[in-house]
Amino acid sequence: MEVQWFGAETPKLGSPLRVVCLIVSILLATWSSQALEMSVGKVPFMEALNGSTVMLPCTYSSCIGIKDLYFNWQFNDNGTMKRVCESTIVAQGVMPVVKIMRKRVEFVGNNVNNNVSILLWNITFEDGGQYTCFGINPKEKFKNHSATFELIVVDELRSVDNTLTIIIASAVGGAIALLMGFMLLKNFTLFVLSKLEEKNKECLVTSSGIDNTENGLSGSKAATKPTPKKK
Ligand SMILES: *[C@@H]1O[C@H](CO)[C@@H](O)[C@H](O)[C@H]1NC(C)=O
Ligand SMILES: *[C@@H]1O[C@H](CO)[C@@H](O)[C@H](O)[C@H]1NC(C)=O
Ligand SMILES: *[C@@H]1O[C@H](CO)[C@@H](O)[C@H](O)[C@H]1NC(C)=O
Ligand SMILES: *[C@@H]1O[C@H](CO)[C@@H](O)[C@H](O)[C@H]1NC(C)=O
Ligand SMILES: *[C@@H]1O[C@H](CO)[C@@H](O)[C@H](O)[C@H]1NC(C)=O
Repeated sequence: MEVQWFGAETPKLGSPLRVVCLIVSILLATWSSQALEMSVGKVPFMEALNGSTVMLPCTYSSCIGIKDLYFNWQFNDNGTMKRVCESTIVAQGVMPVVKIMRKRVEFVGNNVNNNVSILLWNITFEDGGQYTCFGINPKEKFKNHSATFELIVVDELRSVDNTLTIIIASAVGGAIALLMGFMLLKNFTLFVLSKLEEKNKECLVTSSGIDNTENGLSGSKAATKPTPKKK
């Protein structure tokens, strides 16, 4: 009995401590996941024409601030990560000197508002693929983080073809619509004309009727009128 009572009491004593431990670990996990973050924006991919110039966006954030933050951009070249550029940011807002390791790359973020975006000039099909923005903050026990942006390079011809198809499709559609509209209009006109003719006939009949009652001469005149109209 006594052993059972004691055994049941132990977790009761231990549970507040465990709860505290749990809270601390949750807080730690939350803190560490929010420590340093690299972000490539809400839409992590882009489709661009060959020959065009595109911006690969990336910004960093850290809740306790940065000091000597190392960052780089990497390109996944068929499985091997190749550095595009790299630098160390001494402090927030300080413009870094960036080492460029790839053709047609320009650093445009300039660390303004934690911006470490780069520009790819005159892209070719070889430029298509995954670009990773990586950062590591010594101030936060070398916590690192990365985000990946995908660049899809499309052919100019394909989009021209598409617009051409659209133009042809809309032209054909427009022609069909025009034809249908014309036919409808024609039918409508014919219908209206026939109705008018009917009405005219009625008018002529009634008028001729009135004429007949009033004047026999005009009645014969009216009777001759509808005859050519009937052909
Ligand atoms: C894009 O590629 C096509 C062929 O794939 C080429 O004909 C065209 O000149 C290229 N455009 C530019 C701007 O480089
Ligand atoms: C990519 O790697 C595969 C094998 O892993 C190889 O067959 C292919 O030729 C490579 N492509 C390029 C463009 O290097
Ligand atoms: C991009 O292409 C344009 C025109 O072809 C050229 O004037 C310019 O120097 C090129 N830029 C780079 C960075 O290669
Ligand atoms: C980063 O800098 C580039 C070039 O100045 C700018 O176009 C882009 O909008 C900036 N991005 C953010 C998130 O501020
Ligand atoms: C980044 O951090 C992970 C652990 O979160 C570690 O395994 C990896 O080696 C680090 N990468 C670099 C380049 O420091």
